[in-house]
Amino acid sequence: MTISKPTLKENSNVQLVIFGGTGDLTTRMLMPSLLGLFDTGKLANFAVLILSNRNFTDDDYREFIRPFLRRSTKPDIPGFLQHIFYQTMDVTKATDYTAAATKSHDIDKQFDLGGNRIFYFAVAPRLFSPIIASLPDSGFLARPGYKRVVIEKPFGQDYSSAKALNEQLNHLFHEDQIFRIDHYLEKRMVQNIMLTRFGNGLTEGIWNSHFIDNVQVTLSETVGLENRAGYYDQMGATRDMVQNHIFQLISLLAMDQPISLRQEDVTEAKVAALRMLKTPDLQLTDQQFVLGQYLGNQQEPAYLDEERIPKTSRTETFVAGELNFNSYRWDGVPFYFRTGKRLATKTTRIDVVFKAPQLKLFEEHHQVIDHLAPNILTILIDPDEGLSMQLNTRDSDEETFGSTNAILANTQPATGFETPEAYESLLSDIIDGNTENFPQWREIAVAWQFIDALRAGWQKTSPIIHQYPLGSMGPEQADELLTRTGRYWAFDPTK
Ligand code: BG6
Repeated sequence: MTISKPTLKENSNVQLVIFGGTGDLTTRMLMPSLLGLFDTGKLANFAVLILSNRNFTDDDYREFIRPFLRRSTKPDIPGFLQHIFYQTMDVTKATDYTAAATKSHDIDKQFDLGGNRIFYFAVAPRLFSPIIASLPDSGFLARPGYKRVVIEKPFGQDYSSAKALNEQLNHLFHEDQIFRIDHYLEKRMVQNIMLTRFGNGLTEGIWNSHFIDNVQVTLSETVGLENRAGYYDQMGATRDMVQNHIFQLISLLAMDQPISLRQEDVTEAKVAALRMLKTPDLQLTDQQFVLGQYLGNQQEPAYLDEERIPKTSRTETFVAGELNFNSYRWDGVPFYFRTGKRLATKTTRIDVVFKAPQLKLFEEHHQVIDHLAPNILTILIDPDEGLSMQLNTRDSDEETFGSTNAILANTQPATGFETPEAYESLLSDIIDGNTENFPQWREIAVAWQFIDALRAGWQKTSPIIHQYPLGSMGPEQADELLTRTGRYWAFDPTK
């Protein structure tokens, strides 16, 4: 069964059917951001049906959610709550779906929503599949109107589970009805990468191995497990951050120019770049990738002492690696990445390191310089946003050379993603039917295939999990990844 494509005019009237209504995502993000959209008039004719297992009536749920509805403006909360409905159900019980669908149809009639529905899965990933399986017989999809589905990450745990989930979705929905969330694609400076590259002759002209020495992607976090021990210990940093966010960034940095900005053309270019990645060599996984686990201090536990983490866990809370491409553009240019929990600072940034000039010219007159530092183009993503270029200049005492950072575009604080405001833009894209900022299946598939190959290598070679001090930038072996070829991380907040 496949559902027909919507037209744009149909978008504005909609019912959001949210599976899971009492967890963090719905209470802290979805409901406050829906209130924001209501407050700004983006959502006028809409209803929300919450499906969850707590024994609530509509009014009980409205009272339950009221304390979470805080905004800086003075929104019409009673008016908003008139649009919120609740149905008790066990999402694993197929029989509970009929009553839920009947309620959904009644609400649809009451608000004259034309059968438009967005199904939002705000539940644990293990429940995605049973919910999708129950939709066709439930009656939820039976009437006219567009139907869309929103899947929070993780989209599978490996290629085969992701493929199975995708096939299940494809039985019911077109690709343009499926919204797989990767919140990095909503970040302003990530959306800026294509313009920075292809909108400037200066950058795109030198975006290749003739000028670039290496590319560095850093996603460092100071937080630890944040009550997600069960999920995290199962996934680890590679699947939690690399398969999705880091691969998205790397594909945007490495891809050739797409034929157009249409989503299928951009996806094509991103997928082509990822397919040119050299598969990790099993013998070299130890040299090209570094895994780590954080240690504790007097106040904070080490990873292995965290609640609900087995003492023998080999899950990595840090991973760094070197990726190489089979392409002329990137011949001999390593792409380094690193990400981890409990590091020195929260930062998401990209450093594009250019080849350093090999001139003796200045050394003759200025004994103080050993060599000229490379130019580095930095794309700051989070918490600060901006573009800067490290350039060599003469210091004011006129005796020495130094490096200064020329600001190319204004820096400003980013809107943190885990905020209702950020979810507002995400929900508004979904309501508009705009899939541009959501990864397509082919991108997810090729990223999983690479990660699966890497993890298969690790299973065979059982690499060392290096312990690293809390507040550092990970194990020192992550520095050696670069120093052994005379390179270094451009960003080191610990120095
Ligand atoms: C999520 C991961 O996808 O991204 C979390 O599951 C991580 O473990 C978060 O903390 C980081 O997002 P951001 O926007 O704060 O960099």
